Amino acid sequence: MDFGLKNRLSKIFNPKTGKTVMLAVDHGYFQGPTTGLRDMKNITPLIPNADCLFVTRGILRNCIDPKTETSICLRVSGGPSILGELSNEDIIVSMEEAVRLNASGVGMSIFVGASNEDRTISNLGQLVNEAERYGMPVLAITAVGKEMVRDARYLGLACRMAAEIGAHFVKTYYCDDFHKVVEGCPVPIVIAGGKKIPEMDALLMTENAIKAGAKGVDMGRNIFQSDSPIGMIKAVKAIVHKGATAQEAYEIYQKSKKSSAVEIADAGMEKV
Ligand code: 5RP
Repeated sequence: MDFGLKNRLSKIFNPKTGKTVMLAVDHGYFQGPTTGLRDMKNITPLIPNADCLFVTRGILRNCIDPKTETSICLRVSGGPSILGELSNEDIIVSMEEAVRLNASGVGMSIFVGASNEDRTISNLGQLVNEAERYGMPVLAITAVGKEMVRDARYLGLACRMAAEIGAHFVKTYYCDDFHKVVEGCPVPIVIAGGKKIPEMDALLMTENAIKAGAKGVDMGRNIFQSDSPIGMIKAVKAIVHKGATAQEAYEIYQKSKKSSAVEIADAGMEKV
């Protein structure tokens, strides 16, 4: 691995802990104005708490402060909406653009076991070929799609394929026996959060994933759809970087939720 690629990876994975809290806010690229991301200003206070922001170029250009110190991982695949066939994706952002936007990584979805499986795998191979010319790490995202069985056998297959094709890190879902997915994958794995679940459950999932060997999260809805997004990102960060338990992290979330309620009450504002 050359200097540029390693240096970019060190902007995503905190060199002190070897782990990362990525904030995923790319959902609009196929879902439109998702709950919690309708007004992108909502995520502004979360960004300094993340090591890396996973985002599309449109949101990056229009909504993110270029002075941010949080690194950027750019979603470069797209095409279909939730109304179409999700796996029908192509690479839609050039490597030159990723470099111009000062991305520290690029990410795309693969659809193992779905229609267009072979095309998305081939797209990943080509993206890795191109990215390595620029020292750009590639994140492969597995198991997107409603009908996928998210168990260790399937996720293990999808993550291993992503790594074999050349992805430098992989995002997948948490499942029972997650350690088996980690063991079979020679590159770092981060977990997506999936649909919004109760805060304590999301924190337990994070703790279990880290204990099973995940190198962090690339989490969206369980942070920005929480009743305290700031509390949740701080809580997740404590688990990922400080080894906090889910219970300890939950206390961080609750404390932050209470203090923001007090601030709102003190300012005589109504909570929206
Ligand atoms: C969608 C994505 C999202 O970034 C990913 O699913 C993470 O977000 P969430 O935690 O909301 O699942 O890649 O294709």
